[in-house]
Amino acid sequence: MPRIRVEVDGVTYEDDVEPRLLLVHYLRDRLGKVGTPIGCDTTNCGACTVLLDGMSVKSCSVFAVQADERAVTTVEGLGINGQNHPMQQAFHEEHALQCGFCTPGMIMASIDLLRENADPSEDEVREGLEGNLCRCTGYQNIVRAVRKAASDMRQAERPVSPPRLRPATPEVTP
Ligand code: FES
Ligand code: FES
Repeated sequence: MPRIRVEVDGVTYEDDVEPRLLLVHYLRDRLGKVGTPIGCDTTNCGACTVLLDGMSVKSCSVFAVQADERAVTTVEGLGINGQNHPMQQAFHEEHALQCGFCTPGMIMASIDLLRENADPSEDEVREGLEGNLCRCTGYQNIVRAVRKAASDMRQAERPVSPPRLRPATPEVTP
């Protein structure tokens, strides 16, 4: 059985895995990362989306062995010091979920979307998330949440303008 070493949400794990084991099953069944749901198991719904080396993948379409020597981020690894990631916060504030089943995948796919386009239009958000299905919300609030997170993240990254230098005090000549 192949042995893999994979970093998941900042923790390194080493495990023997069957070559056919899917990444989503490794995350849920071996590591207990049940925050990543399985919606379809056939790569259609996007509920199982995680980041693999920062890029979104449907973890039901990746084998665990393909994550060897790579870093996986699940929705459980997003918060820092008990604070929500801006995308989680925006989903919360914009009421972008109802049953919440699609939400982990939506959030992970949206983070990857902003990595490529920091200021997406409404149409670009819809196009970027077309691989993630939601049966409840009608998508309107999801799109709003992604654009709010984009705006919040741009603001957070805006460099603080340097302090203005005081004009030099004129030299006083006696
Ligand atoms: S469970 Fe992976 S795409 Fe649906
Ligand atoms: S909130 Fe229920 S599937 Fe999206």
